Amino acid sequence: MLSISVKEFLFWKKKQLSKGGDHQSFAFLLDCLGGISKSDLNFLNLNSDGNLYLKKNLGYLESIWEDHLLNSSPIQYLCGITFWRDLKLTVTDKVLIPRPETEIIIDIVFRIFGKKSKELFFAELGTGSGAISIALALAYPSWYGVATDIDQDALEVATKNYVNYSKQSNLKFYCGHWWTPFESFKGKLDLVISNPPYIPNDTYEKLPKEVKNFEPKIALLGGKDGLKHIREIIEKAPLYLREKAWLIMENHFDQGEKVRQLLIKNEFKSVEIVNDLSGVGRFTIGRYK
Ligand SMILES: C[S@@+](CC[C@H](N)C(=O)[O-])C[C@H]1O[C@@H](n2cnc3c(N)ncnc32)[C@H](O)[C@@H]1O
Repeated sequence: MLSISVKEFLFWKKKQLSKGGDHQSFAFLLDCLGGISKSDLNFLNLNSDGNLYLKKNLGYLESIWEDHLLNSSPIQYLCGITFWRDLKLTVTDKVLIPRPETEIIIDIVFRIFGKKSKELFFAELGTGSGAISIALALAYPSWYGVATDIDQDALEVATKNYVNYSKQSNLKFYCGHWWTPFESFKGKLDLVISNPPYIPNDTYEKLPKEVKNFEPKIALLGGKDGLKHIREIIEKAPLYLREKAWLIMENHFDQGEKVRQLLIKNEFKSVEIVNDLSGVGRFTIGRYK
């Protein structure tokens, strides 16, 4: 721990913010790497006497902030951490930074199954950092879950995140293409969730630098119309789901109706488009027969 005067720190902070960037990202950096939380900051702004303790020196924090400003590197990758629902997760550039809108998937599951549900077998396709599966495995200790990803490096991040949170063993990770690792689970799954890559090729080219230059392409690209992976997942789902099992998919802001039609075509019932907090039809859900 390094001790510096609060006045010196506040002067330095003002100087950093004058270079650009948003206050939220700077607060994130101070919290994750400096060990100064938002409530510490509020207190220091009101009371600037005395000293404070930092986990890293100002020069180091400044170099990270400048990297963020100059190269548009996501602050979460630079800090190696992100917050998602009530989880603090490790992230590297091998995994997508889990998005706030995706948090709603857990609320959809709560709505369908209630917060106390007996044994159930769930799967997640394309787990990335493991956020969704870990949140479910922790919320439902009596459930058993399996999660896949095509990328072994992503699975290492997900496994690390799971082990950090849990001594439970109700979640296992498998490497492979969508349903392929689940051959032995055919007809057995009660719930499947996927937030697959769904960005159309043309749109990908126009994504902001902080996404396109840093987040894994394989986590984003969904082919010409963005629906390549969603289509494959839905078409094969009937082989793996039990009767009355639920499928919950995240999709791009304008894909809800097309995903709804795909579910109906593949014999799903109770098909519904669910909005995210901005009112966008971000999720499409259905029950198999
Ligand atoms: C949009 S990210 C979602 C990550 C995480 N579930 C989340 O919501 O933050 C899609 C994930 O699917 C994985 N993926 C891409 N193609 C895949 C495939 N053919 N089979 C399995 N996983 C795949 C990517 O590696 C990535 O982790």
